[in-house]
Amino acid sequence: MNTLTAEITALVDGKSVSDALTAIADHFPGRVAFSTSFGIEDQVVTHIIFSNNLPIRVFTLETGRLFRETYSVWSRTLEVYQKKIETYFPDTQAVEQLISQKGPVSFYQSVENRKECCHIRKIEPLGRALKGASCWVTGIRASQSDNRQGMTQVEWDGGHGLVKFHPIYQWSLDQVWDYAKKHRIPYNPLHDKGFPSIGCAPCTRAVQPGEDFRAGRWWWEDQSKKECGLHTTDRG
Ligand code: ADX
Ligand code: SF4
Repeated sequence: MNTLTAEITALVDGKSVSDALTAIADHFPGRVAFSTSFGIEDQVVTHIIFSNNLPIRVFTLETGRLFRETYSVWSRTLEVYQKKIETYFPDTQAVEQLISQKGPVSFYQSVENRKECCHIRKIEPLGRALKGASCWVTGIRASQSDNRQGMTQVEWDGGHGLVKFHPIYQWSLDQVWDYAKKHRIPYNPLHDKGFPSIGCAPCTRAVQPGEDFRAGRWWWEDQSKKECGLHTTDRG
């Protein structure tokens, strides 16, 4: 942990999610950005940001391969909160080149191809989305995966040179749903159809009862490879 992450950890310690986000926004004026994929965790954080008018940019990475249900909850969120959600799209030429060379579903062929697609559709646009940011807020929770269990609520992202903050890191899934229901937060209807974690349509499927939270993501790959690279932080 570096001195800045230690300082931010102390700043948010013991605070409610909205107070912690307020303190972070005060600490980094105009330089806090929240990324949403419109999953239930992100919807909770979006609700807290928008309903408290917090000065935090909200952005999404529109990969071009999302589920139609994701587009509908995105539209509904714009309607309910009447706030801006910045959108970052992949570089057109890079997508054209990828599909011309390897076809539209190259990601099923190898981990390398899958990472290439994630790089073009998520990682490069993420770099643009985080330009000028000093703090990146996400909806990650510890209980989502073993890997995430090993993270901390405040982290240093050496790759992007900023602090990452996961405001609902310690929340259980039940807590997330109780909060969402209580506040009538719009949510992706795929959650009711066996999708706990929702990414791109060709790379996400429903899970069976009792299966792991992220079992439906890149299900054809080896367990250890299943992160898209958005959160492979250099925690120096
Ligand atoms: S992923 O790394 O496997 O894709 P996951 O779907 O669990 O991530 O989401 C974790 C966090 O990553 C979300 O809370 C959100 O902050 C961010 N995220 C994931 N996908 C997107 C996206 N398409 N656009 C913006 N943020 C995203
Ligand atoms: Fe491409 Fe699948 Fe990654 Fe989406 S999740 S960017 S479709 S490989």
